[in-house]
Amino acid sequence: MTFTVEDLQTILDEITLAVTALPAEGEVACYIPQLAEVDPDQFGIAVALADGQIFHAGDAQTLFSIQSISKVFTTTIALRKFGDDIWKRVGREPSGDPFNSIVQLEMECGKPRNPFINAGAITIADTIMEGRTPDELMEEILQFIREIAHDDSIQIDKKVAESELKTGDRNASLAHFMASFGLFENAVDDVLWAYFNHCSITMTCEQLAKAALFLVSDGLDKSCGVNVVSEKRARRINSLMMMCGHYDGSGEFAFRVGLPGKSGVGGGIMAVVPGKASIAVWSPRLDKVGNSYLGTLALEMLTQRTGWSVF
Ligand code: DON
Repeated sequence: MTFTVEDLQTILDEITLAVTALPAEGEVACYIPQLAEVDPDQFGIAVALADGQIFHAGDAQTLFSIQSISKVFTTTIALRKFGDDIWKRVGREPSGDPFNSIVQLEMECGKPRNPFINAGAITIADTIMEGRTPDELMEEILQFIREIAHDDSIQIDKKVAESELKTGDRNASLAHFMASFGLFENAVDDVLWAYFNHCSITMTCEQLAKAALFLVSDGLDKSCGVNVVSEKRARRINSLMMMCGHYDGSGEFAFRVGLPGKSGVGGGIMAVVPGKASIAVWSPRLDKVGNSYLGTLALEMLTQRTGWSVF
């Protein structure tokens, strides 16, 4: 593979041109009405290299709802606070089921398969809440993301959070079902409100690529020499993203792209090339399992051009 960093901007420009010329396929997420308001035909991509250089193309500086990508950050916060104790409350196996499925919870006594399905992320929100209000927890989550992205402007889109709350019957069912096993430490409604809020954080591709850099460099934020997590934990977060980051589409993503990645129904995907780069792509139209249609295609093209697949 003859790829050099000097080629990267050209590669990103070419991929952007190629994918945006394709006939529109996939639908925006409509079950959260506020997400359906977004112009579906946008596309952005940003790459942050391990040394901090940033390359981008398309709508890489447009804010979008990070949705389930936020689950990587809340899981990281939980690991920093409670270490391996979090595995008492969530598993680390792919579910093979849709992100909002309830079926395994009954058989598995309310313990979600992994921290990235909705039930798992709601459990993580309960774990890190520690008796505080949703606003207090959100302050901590926002501060963590602002620190790793080196950007104090990152905010929550309250309209999206309200929209999720209004149509959140499925998530409320998951939470109450888990609470029925006596597993919750905080009021279910508070945990749900915190969960809806962290899913409603808005970021650009550029901000997301920067925020993921600690997963590229063994847990280290090289720009300031701070260890966000240990090397072992960074490796484990990447393995969770590889196995569970795309729900029942995780196998397909590994097959086509070959990178640890985490998707969100806002159309974003954050991916990690260990030791080399982090990538964020965004395009709101989703495939049948809720992952960005053009985002996945662009990542597939990028790993083919760069040889960046981990396999
Ligand atoms: O709870 C939900 O359904 C959304 N806030 C997050 C789901 C999501 O992003 C799934 N990702 N592809």
